[in-house]
Amino acid sequence: MNAVVSPAAQDSAPAWIKNQKLINWVAEIAALTKPARIYWCAGSEAEYDRLCAEMVASGTLRRLDAQKRPNSYLALSDPSDVARVEDRTFICSETAEQAGPTNNWMAPEEMRGTLKPLFEGAMRGRTLYVVPFSMGPLGSPIAHIGVELSDSPYVAINMRLMTRMGRAVCEVLGSNGTFVPCVHTVGKPLLAGEKDVAWPCNALKYIVHFPETREIWSFGSGYGGNALLGKKCFALRIASNMGRDEGWLAEHMLILGVESPGGQKHYVAAAFPSACGKTNFAMLIPPKGFEGWKVTTIGDDIAWIKPGADGRLRAINPEAGYFGVAPGTNEQTNFNCMASLNANTIFTNVALTDDGDVWWEGKTKEPPAHLIDWQGQDWTPEIGRTTGRKAAHPNARFTVAATQNPVLDPNWDDPAGVPISAFIFGGRRSTTVPLVTEARSWTEGVYMAATMGSETTAAAAGKEGVVRRDPFAMLPFCGYNMADYFGHWLALGKRVEQSGAHLPGIFCVNWFRADENGKFVWPGFGENMRVLKWVLDRIGKKTGGEENLFGVTPRYEDLSWEGSNFDQQAFERITSIDDAAWAKELELHSELFTKLAYHLPSELEAVREGLKARLAA
Ligand code: OXD
Ligand code: MN
Repeated sequence: MNAVVSPAAQDSAPAWIKNQKLINWVAEIAALTKPARIYWCAGSEAEYDRLCAEMVASGTLRRLDAQKRPNSYLALSDPSDVARVEDRTFICSETAEQAGPTNNWMAPEEMRGTLKPLFEGAMRGRTLYVVPFSMGPLGSPIAHIGVELSDSPYVAINMRLMTRMGRAVCEVLGSNGTFVPCVHTVGKPLLAGEKDVAWPCNALKYIVHFPETREIWSFGSGYGGNALLGKKCFALRIASNMGRDEGWLAEHMLILGVESPGGQKHYVAAAFPSACGKTNFAMLIPPKGFEGWKVTTIGDDIAWIKPGADGRLRAINPEAGYFGVAPGTNEQTNFNCMASLNANTIFTNVALTDDGDVWWEGKTKEPPAHLIDWQGQDWTPEIGRTTGRKAAHPNARFTVAATQNPVLDPNWDDPAGVPISAFIFGGRRSTTVPLVTEARSWTEGVYMAATMGSETTAAAAGKEGVVRRDPFAMLPFCGYNMADYFGHWLALGKRVEQSGAHLPGIFCVNWFRADENGKFVWPGFGENMRVLKWVLDRIGKKTGGEENLFGVTPRYEDLSWEGSNFDQQAFERITSIDDAAWAKELELHSELFTKLAYHLPSELEAVREGLKARLAA
């Protein structure tokens, strides 16, 4: 049995739980948070269906039309709980320097003192769900296990789509295996007789990481990365610490496979800040002129990368599903994603159509005549026009299992991972940064990634469209001092090089250069294949490029333009380098390096000096 047990009987965990440490820890957290019940998730389909039915009954989920969107649900969050809360996210390492200036830090003991009274009785009246999960293919040497204890059934069902979850994980864990403990509460205990709300949460939020003890504690939010603790909290913030200590990388990267018509296959890992098109890039459909090319998905958000026995970097996707941004997704921008969402999907904060389906801005050119918006209110195009209110929240999401993806790579679940040929780093910059640049060395590539800037998006609470430095697209996700993280990248590159294994090339891209009216010049989406092919051709030494200030960029003739009418003038517009803008950009790099001066690798400062000298010349 999967056992709904009273907290007094936690030691009657199901027979398939063999790990005494896990049983003891669940008892300890139950004693602290005082749930009414404990439920051990087995991860079966029947269990998923039952939890969903319970949430439909309680009003948290709405079942969508069975013909239009089979086995799919809509959740509308509390309007105050719609995105990751970076200013409430803490890295509580022993010292402030270990967390570094880009993270919020509090001394571990002080934070434990703050959290204890918040978690005390926080699950009263609710069920504590025990959610065992594996980040990565079961039993992979690159994978790790976590267990999330959450009082949110919405978290439990999302974790089933986003990770390998349940009984099979406990079998891998066995009696002696280790796991990352993750405690989550929505922070809204239910008093006797109190009626629950559809989306319980608390105005006060804490998303807390203890890197030394590899623990995660999350209070007050039920949304996305704040609550699905396998994702940003474990797979990036805690895992980046594990990777530093153990010689591997935990990165905010998609992983895709590219196969040429001749059958040559490469895997590429690419980092972009949140809501900058990682899911679209990972599911790209090659454009006209690229007949016979295939792009397949290993992952759309996170990569764990480790040198294999031969020294070569191999990557897995620690996740098993996609928690993607819905607005802007349609059959033209991402056909494969739309196909993935046809059934078996949880939608959060999109709008509901009158015939029981979902809609979001950009799904169709014309919005339906009437909708229920993400706040549960009537919405018409007229209301949208006059009030500026969106039907879907800009950070509205879908949760869907990777197996729904029609272009899922056949090796996506391979425990050995896939070999990486190139790294791509991309920011959202309307000016300054060219379409694509190849680093001339690993160190120069690390410099490019370290100094990346990007305009902010709706994925995080706060103002949109402001340029901030987002090194490696890891600013909100690096669980330790960013300068030490740069050093780790440099050291790992050296180690791979010394092993004689292929060291991936490093490239920097920008799909977002805009014209004087703010319109994107580069068509993006499937057309990004032209850049991807140039990247692979550079690795295979099959195409040319031109040295510039900080790397190598293609000339117009170095890209394949078959099937495209993108002209040379437009190309020059998005590849041109404006010396004055770059002089300013280098000052911003300098500001970043001043901020990160503690432990900043001297190699990076040397690259900056070199660029400055070249620019002056
Ligand atoms: C995400 C994010 O949800 O980066 O992937 O915010
Ligand atoms: Mn992300």
